[in-house]
Amino acid sequence: MKAVRFSEYGGLDVLKIIDVPTPEVGLGQVLVQVKAAGINPGEAKIRSGLLHARFPATFPSGEGSDLAGTVAAMGRGVVGFAAGQSVIGYTDNRASHAEYVAVEADNLTPKPAEVPWDVAGGLFVAGATAFAAVRAVSLAAGETVVVAGATGGVGSIAVQLARLAGATVVGIASHRHLGWLQGRGGIGVEYGDGVADRIRQAARHVDAFIDTVGSGYVRVALDLGIEPTRIDTIVDFAAAATLGVQAKGSAAGASAAVLADLAGLVAAGQLEVPIAARFPLSEVSQAYGMLDRGGVLGKIVLIP
Ligand SMILES: NC(=O)c1ccc[n+]([C@@H]2O[C@H](COP(=O)([O-])OP(=O)(O)OC[C@H]3O[C@@H](n4cnc5c(N)ncnc54)[C@H](OP(=O)(O)O)[C@@H]3O)[C@@H](O)[C@H]2O)c1
Repeated sequence: MKAVRFSEYGGLDVLKIIDVPTPEVGLGQVLVQVKAAGINPGEAKIRSGLLHARFPATFPSGEGSDLAGTVAAMGRGVVGFAAGQSVIGYTDNRASHAEYVAVEADNLTPKPAEVPWDVAGGLFVAGATAFAAVRAVSLAAGETVVVAGATGGVGSIAVQLARLAGATVVGIASHRHLGWLQGRGGIGVEYGDGVADRIRQAARHVDAFIDTVGSGYVRVALDLGIEPTRIDTIVDFAAAATLGVQAKGSAAGASAAVLADLAGLVAAGQLEVPIAARFPLSEVSQAYGMLDRGGVLGKIVLIP
């Protein structure tokens, strides 16, 4: 089968598509033929070596956590799935950017027919992270939350989950995507110099803050008078360590149950996962190149 591999840290050029043996399924595992697999900035940071201290790579390394596909085979002990079934899931083994992936059955949930393959394949990291961040800041109906990076993979989902919780959402995004935010019931605020003043103009009082960007947003949130426990950053771990704010991300939201809930919302038309682009597996470098350049609304997905 074809799979993405890189054998050293580096730029887009270290990403190769090579032939490797199709994985064998072990006890409790399902072999999934991948129909779509999202890409995420964290994978680019791992590939470049930026996260070596926290998440070292061993070479040759595969990549990819997000996946959706069909059940091709099942190992011993798997119950609740059937050959050919459509599933959504995730792997912790950097392995989904491939034609097939062996996945723990516990990390899979059935894909509702109403959820398109590209959305299903891009759901896990962004969805689980958005879910965890929104849960972390404990929104009550009628409260106001700011989401920084409101039209990226994580932010675009967090905005909608916060709206579903009954919150007023101020979304910080680039000018080109403010219309998308407003269309989802958010108040759009453009990022850049003076952003704190624009937040104050948009909302008299802010109860909670979700930071998906870094760049000093935790300080902005504290200066707005928000309680540290109601600030969640998925990027600024130094701020989380020193300022008492939360850092709940994908690990806190990672479960098949959360994926099932998110997929259910998509199927019911209550959650949109914007798909900015689809690339064949052979164009994995181009896909990450697009992510690097920024300006992406929602998710980029590989189609093996
Ligand atoms: N801790 C965790 O578990 C976890 C999980 C998932 C992701 N992450 C991290 O969280 C970050 C976001 O992930 P993602 O998948 O959502 O990335 P993404 O899809 O690239 O989205 C990032 C968004 O931030 C916006 N942005 C850039 N500069 C900004 C600024 N100064 N103010 C406000 N918004 C700004 C971008 O807008 P434009 O492109 O339009 O300029 C883009 O919409 C990444 O660093 C990722 O590694 C952490």
